[in-house]
Amino acid sequence: MDNLDQLIEQAKTDFLGCFKLSELDHIKARFLGKSGPIAEAMKTLSLLSAEERPKKGAEINQIKRQIEDLLNIRKEEIISAELNKRLEEEKIDITLPSRKFEKGSLHPVVNTISSISKIFHSIGFDVTDGPEIEDDFHNFTALNIPESHPARAMHDTFYINKNYVLRTHTSPVQIRYMENNAPPIQIISPGRVYRVDSDATHSPMFHQVEGLMINKDVNFSNLKGIVQSFLQKYFEDEKLTIRFRPSYFPFTEPSAEIDMSWNGGWLEIGGCGMVHPNVLKHVNINPEEFQGFAFGLGVERLTMLKYGIDDLRHFFNHDLRFLEQF
Ligand code: PHE
Repeated sequence: MDNLDQLIEQAKTDFLGCFKLSELDHIKARFLGKSGPIAEAMKTLSLLSAEERPKKGAEINQIKRQIEDLLNIRKEEIISAELNKRLEEEKIDITLPSRKFEKGSLHPVVNTISSISKIFHSIGFDVTDGPEIEDDFHNFTALNIPESHPARAMHDTFYINKNYVLRTHTSPVQIRYMENNAPPIQIISPGRVYRVDSDATHSPMFHQVEGLMINKDVNFSNLKGIVQSFLQKYFEDEKLTIRFRPSYFPFTEPSAEIDMSWNGGWLEIGGCGMVHPNVLKHVNINPEEFQGFAFGLGVERLTMLKYGIDDLRHFFNHDLRFLEQF
């Protein structure tokens, strides 16, 4: 029993001589374990008289607690020493140059759409969009292409089911916009369109930009003037001219293909015309009161001409050597 006081001193020395948590557990067992001195001392309590027993028991407990406190203090010391050691050893050299971070760039088609939008915005056109999964009504019927109309076959449509298609052109946005907005209307709508077609000059997904202007006295020369001045701005060429070639679209009358002067010749860049009265009727606009024009331009074509790109497939095969140039 008297040795118990010395026990504290002994524990202190042993704990201080220990520098590893795993070893500390062994030392702890030596003092506080089942066959350690504290446990042994407890066993001898039964030999004492009833008066002496509580006093001695309290003393032993007191010593036990002191040893536990010493143990916990040492534990904390070891943990923080180990942490400090790691912090010291695992120092990061923040002056080392980091790994190279590759910066992406905008896709050329995205660049074209944003400059087209800027130019039209500057002359009072809003930029709007519509869904790429379109219903039969907006993609065809409302555009004066009723069921069994031969123009439906011309469109090489991807059908999702009987009623839904991947839109074959951006013209359905005309309908959606006129359903929700009264004239005067001046919008363009760039976006993706889809057709079952794939070779050097056709891709199953490509981009168009739709234009629509509706008011009380919009005419064919307004259409020609606006398309031409847009192209002059886009190609930064004031001498650029266009010509209209008579054509047919069910949703415009009269209709024309738009050709643009290029390298001494002409290049087709889209279709246009005066919005057909039947289209206006479908969206409850009175064709006696309002009329207007619509056009649809090929975005890839405009991009290829501007940057001198010779194959449409460059746009869609994700070759970084190509894309990095923009
Ligand atoms: N939607 C037509 C096409 O995809 C283009 C067009 C748009 C023609 C607007 C006239 C008016 O071929």
